[in-house]
Amino acid sequence: MNAPGGHPLPRGVSGKLAPFGTTIFTTMTKLAQEHGAVNLSQGFPDFDGPEFIKQAARDAIDHQPNQYAPMPGLPSLRQAIAKRFTRDTALPCDPDTQVVVTAGCTEGIAAALIGLCNRGDEVILFEPFYDSYRAAVAMAGASARFVALTPTIEEVGGKRVVTSFAFNAAQLRAAFGPRTRAVLVNTPHNPTGKVFSREELTLIAELCVEHNAVAIVDEVYERLLFDPSQPHVSIASLPGMAERTVTLSSLGKTFSFTGWKIGWSVASPALTAAVRAAHQFITFAVATPLQHAAAAALAREEEAVGGLVPMLRANRDKLATALSDLGFAVHVPAGTYFICADHTAVAPRLGASDDQSFCMALIKQCGVAAIPPSVFYNTPALGHSLVRFAFCKKPETIDEGIARLRSLR
Ligand SMILES: Cc1ncc(COP(=O)(O)O)c(C=O)c1O
Repeated sequence: MNAPGGHPLPRGVSGKLAPFGTTIFTTMTKLAQEHGAVNLSQGFPDFDGPEFIKQAARDAIDHQPNQYAPMPGLPSLRQAIAKRFTRDTALPCDPDTQVVVTAGCTEGIAAALIGLCNRGDEVILFEPFYDSYRAAVAMAGASARFVALTPTIEEVGGKRVVTSFAFNAAQLRAAFGPRTRAVLVNTPHNPTGKVFSREELTLIAELCVEHNAVAIVDEVYERLLFDPSQPHVSIASLPGMAERTVTLSSLGKTFSFTGWKIGWSVASPALTAAVRAAHQFITFAVATPLQHAAAAALAREEEAVGGLVPMLRANRDKLATALSDLGFAVHVPAGTYFICADHTAVAPRLGASDDQSFCMALIKQCGVAAIPPSVFYNTPALGHSLVRFAFCKKPETIDEGIARLRSLR
């Protein structure tokens, strides 16, 4: 294409990123707005987190300097993150050499991969994967290997149910090789709601040790747990892993402030140096007043999470029952705020054949927005029969969503 003067126009998106297009969250949220749909697509609450955290941000704006924070993060927030990490893993953590405050977990993922990977390195991803992973691997100049989390559908109490999403151990073992630099694990897992078991994480850990690979672990849903028999296990706490794990999390999901984009990374000093090497040139430092507020949030975490989890559990149960009654094969999640379900028995009622056409029809015919999970796969066909609903919404939003879904009967 040429400009009006005849000069050629510069090329747009690089070849590195062109394959990834626009994120599905932007697309579905826009469509939901256009069609006045109940938005059960993107994973953000339709309510805000606790007032005391907002007040801490206001106080910081009014009474603290509003200038750049130190590159690795405010000392008070790094101390709070280190204390929390030690509480959860029983591992020592030096806030000066082991913590980086990032612009949400999304930046943590990119900074870890960019800081750690050389061209030609391989990174193992479990599919379905959170959608930034594959693009971040590409930005890091590495290449991705994929291991599928496969749903098992069984008849339980007369209903078809997804009883698990599991990987094949041999497939995982085969994915590791001499070029493996890292494996990226997300537990609790978006979009399936799976909480990786200790046994699964132990196998991943053993393979990391055997192949001298790093585990990059995205734990943003670590506190959103519903089943005491499936507790969250931090891979960093497993034998041999403290020195080879980058643990990532953020404020957004636990405290219902997804718009603040405050995240963090905890790792050994050597791995932290890699994350910082990238972070210093990506964002350098993140919003200072919000870091003060994040420190206040972590100091009173139980108070914040204590009310959220029971509400989410009630939403989960209500939505799972409604979907199951409508004929979906539901995976009842042990963590996160997503329900992943198989729509095979329901899709024909909307004239849909795969997850994309199903979600389009659901918005247009039912007024409910959901996410087509095939975008979270390297092999999209693996996700064609699935649909993901977010239940991090006010109970009345879930009720309205269910009322509209009932038109599927
Ligand atoms: C698995 C996972 N990781 C990371 C993120 C993004 O976290 P943040 O908003 O802190 O960047 C999300 C958001 O949906 C997520 O689901």
